[in-house]
Amino acid sequence: MEPRSYSLIITISKRIDSLVSVLGVLKNHDAVITHLESRPSRTPTDEDNEIDYFIQFSVLSDFSPDTFVAILQEFVVSASLVSGSEPSSCLSDSTPWFPRSIADVAQCCTTLFKYGSELTPDHPGYGDKEYQVRRKEIAVIAKRYQYGRPIPRMEYTAKEIETCFVCLKCRGKIFSSQVKLYPTHACKEYNKHFPSLFSECGYREDNIPQLEDVSRYLKAKTDWQLWPVIGWISARDFLNSLAFRVFPTTQYIRHHSKPFYTPEPDICHELIGHAPLFCDSAFAQFSQEIGLASLAISDEWIDNLASLYWFTVEFGLVNEGGSPKAYGAGLLSGNEELQYCITDCPERRLLDIGEIIVTKYPETGLQPLYFVASSLEDMRDQMSAFSKSIPRPFCVIYDHINQKVEVQTAVV
Ligand SMILES: [Fe+2]
Repeated sequence: MEPRSYSLIITISKRIDSLVSVLGVLKNHDAVITHLESRPSRTPTDEDNEIDYFIQFSVLSDFSPDTFVAILQEFVVSASLVSGSEPSSCLSDSTPWFPRSIADVAQCCTTLFKYGSELTPDHPGYGDKEYQVRRKEIAVIAKRYQYGRPIPRMEYTAKEIETCFVCLKCRGKIFSSQVKLYPTHACKEYNKHFPSLFSECGYREDNIPQLEDVSRYLKAKTDWQLWPVIGWISARDFLNSLAFRVFPTTQYIRHHSKPFYTPEPDICHELIGHAPLFCDSAFAQFSQEIGLASLAISDEWIDNLASLYWFTVEFGLVNEGGSPKAYGAGLLSGNEELQYCITDCPERRLLDIGEIIVTKYPETGLQPLYFVASSLEDMRDQMSAFSKSIPRPFCVIYDHINQKVEVQTAVV
């Protein structure tokens, strides 16, 4: 019999006897370990008492993966087993390119889809030479960014800080009025993590936080990181980046003539709307599940996942004791819609991923329809199950120790 090779990714307790038990299961199957790595676990919980192991081993071909995993379940928090080496038949010339390791995400984050420093007539900053020169200066930082290096620091002008946080029309404080809504309108996970960004990352009314500081904080919390981009990247590139726990992030500020409106994401939206939820392990896992599901799928399915992203990560609500609360970044970074979304005006339906992916939505203005998750954990679990139904000629599994995806014909 020819030996077969397997890759096993497990999360276990730091207790020595957990590792001994796993090694005992391998020994009982006459496995030969060919590679073993470990690191402190950052997923799926916030607990600091677990370790991830990546183990490659070979066994004789009568080995039963199902039985092996069933025995392992007694000793591990989670386990993923993939078989053998990558099957060459599952990738063809028609398979869309997709990043295989986190370094490949550079290709996703540098291919501009829209805006950037060259603005179109529908943008409030179109025709403002000073604003466009500034956008080019900020774009240079994103263009020069290299994975593994710190994100260069930005010095924001007083005008940019004011645009971000102060309403030029009424001189009222946008940021502070937004913060006042969170206890009653934002989900409990947002309210749990948002204060820590003040103490750890420089969130203040008179300061625009640095991407590097926020990225480092998220990395320590849930292994997510920010990657500066010069403008809109395509839906495929954006979603593919999420597979590696990378969030492509803009650094520029909306145009000062319309502080309440931006046709594109800007740093205010990214840091106030998105960043706090990435501290939550269930939301972090849900976001990565969308990313993993997006690798190498058809353009039609990319559109479906873009809808899912819109109705959840951007405009999602979650039920808390019978009341809807916001977790979507588009809501949390917009004062008017944050107040509107929990009133009786819009329609609200229970989260159903199968329904969401075929539901149309307006890209501007208040949303007429929101989907309400029963919990962020339930949403994560629904996505994990749903992703298995997406047509793709192979499976992918994320090796979070080496930050790369394994492509296999079957996942146990
Ligand atoms: Fe967003």
